[in-house]
This record gives sequence, structure tokens and C-alpha cells, in this order.
Amino acid sequence: YPTERIRNFSIIAHVDHGKSTLADRLLELTGTIKRGLGQPQYLDKLQVERERGITVKAQTATMFYDHKFQGANGIDVQEPCRFLLNLIDTPGHVDFSYEVSRSLAACQGALLVVDAAQGVQAQTVANFYLAFESNLTIIPVINKIDQPTADPDRVKAQLKSMFDLDPNDALLTSAKTGQGLEHVLPAVIERMPPPPGNCNSPLRMLLLDSYYDEYKGVICHVAVVDGTLRKGDKISSAATGQSYEVLDVGIMHPELKPTGVLLTGQVGYVVSGMRSTKEARVGDTLHQSRSIVEPLPGFKPVKHMVFSGVYPVDGSDFEALNHAIERLTCNDASVSVTKESSTALGLGFRCGFLGLLHMDVFHQRLEQEYGAHVISTVPTVPYIFEYSDGRYVGAVITLCSERRGEQLEYTFIDSQRAFMKYRLPLREIVVDFYNELKSITSGYASFDYEDSEYQASDLVKLDLLLNGQPIDAMAAIVHNLKAQRLGRDLVEKLKKFIDRQMFEITIQAAIGSKVVARETVSAMRKNVLAKCYGGDVTRKRKLLEKQKEGKKRMKRVGSVDIPQEAFHEMLKVS
Ligand code: GTP
Repeated sequence: YPTERIRNFSIIAHVDHGKSTLADRLLELTGTIKRGLGQPQYLDKLQVERERGITVKAQTATMFYDHKFQGANGIDVQEPCRFLLNLIDTPGHVDFSYEVSRSLAACQGALLVVDAAQGVQAQTVANFYLAFESNLTIIPVINKIDQPTADPDRVKAQLKSMFDLDPNDALLTSAKTGQGLEHVLPAVIERMPPPPGNCNSPLRMLLLDSYYDEYKGVICHVAVVDGTLRKGDKISSAATGQSYEVLDVGIMHPELKPTGVLLTGQVGYVVSGMRSTKEARVGDTLHQSRSIVEPLPGFKPVKHMVFSGVYPVDGSDFEALNHAIERLTCNDASVSVTKESSTALGLGFRCGFLGLLHMDVFHQRLEQEYGAHVISTVPTVPYIFEYSDGRYVGAVITLCSERRGEQLEYTFIDSQRAFMKYRLPLREIVVDFYNELKSITSGYASFDYEDSEYQASDLVKLDLLLNGQPIDAMAAIVHNLKAQRLGRDLVEKLKKFIDRQMFEITIQAAIGSKVVARETVSAMRKNVLAKCYGGDVTRKRKLLEKQKEGKKRMKRVGSVDIPQEAFHEMLKVS
């Protein structure tokens, strides 16, 4: 087929305005499906689509139509010629607009179907703009004119005021009674341009959609933008660089019909031995393996609005569910999937959807098409958290600067994670830096360190003295600026560990001969026998022995006993 005799068009509309019914009528009119024998909404193939009466997946059908161009006086200006028309049916619900924008990428024109009674609705507007921004030729079709409440003039006025569409261009139809349908395809041929591609350029085709077939493997729907694709060709993916041999190629008429070749401007299917569904990336450009081509613009990335967990009812079915989800996402690339685990439900997946209906349909398809029994968690919408006390990074910066850190680097890895590099004195991090970091960041921060060079610093030796005698194990090298405060903290803390004795104990912190802090523990012996009234001698001895044993674990400094744990705890203060 020469490109001039190809038209690729889509039908877009608000939900229930009659797209699928109109598509059925056009398929019948061109003999693509037999009148009356086809099920209604022929292109709605999925069980979920039939049950819900909505289109979920965009479907493509190739039709052949003999058209005669007529002059203004109604006389034929040339012999009738056969046109190849690719009709791409699209979903109307807002959740599936991703499918719409993908379909439009393969089209040059769109039939904008509007219910004659309801008039322009929200999705009419949204879909109009999708088509308009894709520079498509838009033909307004006012459908359901058979309804008693139909008011085509009002709808024409809306089309004019909302979209600046010429009321005279609107076609009036009833997909139900067949009225006005004969004007639709001639309008498509005469008003819409043929595909713009170049048949002499190297092959470039856009991967529109894909699904998995048990016998053939992955079947890709493609739009050939430039060049020609033949069975036996070696093709490569621009996204992955992987190469494949074209095993089968053809059109959807509307069932798969092998043709052995697809020409510039045609929409059809390709089987190329792709085994993993991950290989078929919707929006990818496929080209001849030998040639280097500029990849076609892909599709807008999807924005997920609703998230929910999907878990197998029986934990042992996890692998089967994994497989089912992989297959299904090949056919619905707009779902995002990441693995997650829950204490109650075990291993599962967190899936992102375009909306609630999209989520429901996904669950239903998992059950109906893959027999997967799943539990789905309450859907949530994405949130952006802002902590009332600022981000965690603030607390980390404060911690590091308190620890005499010098900031070397501070970057955001993504919107969630910051990377900070500090030069910190080793002494400041060895003891409880990690604990503190974890606690101020609710466990989110991770920490790693490596040795830096020795740095010059204003350091002093801080001694702790008990009754004038230094406790060598508690002496610390500290920064001069911090020495005084630290001295006070240490003295206070040590006091808590020292039992009162028969004599007064002084606890001091000193830098050289200069005392910077002082506490005293007043005299009094702790009487372990105080509560032991008239007990026999063995009991008393036991208590005294126990006290003695306790003393063994103490360190005697200047005739004062310091419990072992005090040494450890003191380190934490410093
Ligand atoms: P989605 O696939 O869900 O986006 O809907 P759709 O726009 O494809 O609508 P569909 O073709 O499923 O039609 C919706 C309902 O309108 C069906 O019950 C059709 O029988 C009915 N319908 C379609 N065209 C006409 C028409 O011209 N006249 C009347 N009276 N009813 C129509």
C-alpha cells in the first residue's frame, strides 16, 4: 500500500459516549467483522471489559475501504481506490488516558465522539487536548442522535466554544440505528492526512503495546514510521540494544493476519522471539539491526496516583503471582511494581496505578486471566512528608557541628536521600556518634567513615581526681573549648556511681593544676545489714560476703571504690 492510501485514526470520547459501538459499526461496514455475528463491542476483548462494559485496553484493527473522491457536483473524479484504515479504539475513563496518549502516537487523526444528549464532558475535554497536542486532525462526531433528548445543535455550539471546532465539520451519527455512519470513513480519508513517514528511509517503528501469547511468546503491536519491515529481518531495540529475528509479521484484521511485510505508515503486529515481557518496552523504537537511527520520541512517563499492596492469599504462591504480574504488566505497562514484604502478609508487591478503577481492573485481570488469588491492601495515595522540625538533615548537621565536624560535601542523591561528607575528630565519633545519629534520624541515616590525616587542634588533658588522686583511666584528651563543660558533666556523673563512705569524698576535674569542676560525696557507710533484724549469723555472713564480692568488681582509687560500669559510662559523657 502506498502511504497516501493509508489512514491511521483513533476514536476518542468521554466514557459511554459510544466509541466502541461506533468502532463495531465501522468494522461491520468494511466487512472486517460480519454484521450481527460479532459480539457487541468487538474490540473489547478482555473479560473484564465485557463484564464492566468499558474499554480498558486500546485495540487496533485494520480495515479496507473502497473510496471514490467526488467533485463538488457529486461526480466521481477518479476510479474508486482501496484504502487501508487502521482504527485504534481507546478507553474513555480517565484512569486509562495513558492508553489514549499511546494510541494517538500512531495516529494522524481522531474522531472525537460526543453524546448528542450529554454534550461535552470532562474526558471529552481531556482527550481533545491529548489529540490536539499531538497535532491530530480532529473530526467531531455527534453520536446517539436517535435519543429523544438528543440536541445536536447545542453540542455543536459547545464544540465551537470549547474547542473552536467548525460546527459544519461535525458528523451526526447513531451507532445504534446506523444513521449517518456512511459519512464517517469518507471524512476520515478526505480530511485526515496519510502517515508522514519515508518509505526509503531505514526502518523505524514504534512499539505501541505488547502482550504474551502462550504459543508465540511476546506479540508486539507496532507502528512502522519509516521504511519497511519484512519477515526474516533482524531488528534491534533502541532501548536495550538486543537483536531479534522477525518470525512473523502481519496486521490485526481484527484477528492476527500474517502478511509477511509491514510498510511505512502501517500498524500491525510483530513476533520476534522475545521471551521475557521485560524486553518489550512500550514506547521503544525498533530498527534494522545494521542501521543506526534516531530513536522516536517515546511516551510521557506515567504518573501513579494510587498505590496498593498485592499479596498472594497463600504465601507459597508468591512465585506464581510474580510470574502473573510480570505477564500482566507487559500488557499494561502503566502499572509500577516493586517487591515489598509485610509481617502479616509475607512477601508481596507494591503496585502503583493511575486510579482506583485501574487498580480494580488490574486485580480482576490477575484473577481472571492468570488465576491468581490475591489480597490487596487498602489503597493509598502518594504523600510528600515534611517533618515539622524540618528534615532529618538539619539534625544531622547540628550533630556533626557539635562534634566539631567540618562539612566537606552535601548533596541530594534523590528527593529522599542526602549525602553528607564531614571531617570529624575520631574521638567524637568512636563512642556514641552512631547511636545518636540513628536516634535523631529515626534509624534512616547510615554512616561510614575512613581515616583522614592527623589534624592540628587545640587540645588539653582533662584529669579526674578522687580525693586529690588522679584516676588515670578516666583522663581524657579533649578540645580546649569543650573542656570546662565536659569536666562538669564528668564530675556530676561520677558522683552517681560512688557510694557514700565513712569519709567525705571530693571529685574534681582539672586541666593541669587548674580545677574546673568539683563535687563532694558526704560521709556515711552503707549498712548492708540494716534491714536484717535478728537473722541468724549465716544469713549475715552471706550478706557481708555478697558485699565483699561486689567490691571485687570495683576499682580502688585513693581508698574510694569505683564500680566497673562507671568507667564505661564516663566514656559516653566525653
Ligand atoms: P467505554 O468503552 O467504556 O469508554 O465506552 P464507549 O464510549 O466505548 O461506549 P460504548 O460503545 O460501550 O457505548 C455505551 C452505551 O451507549 C452502550 O450501551 C451502547 O449500546 C450505547 N450506544 C452507543 N451508541 C449509541 C447510539 O448511537 N444511540 C444510542 N441510543 N445508544 C448508543
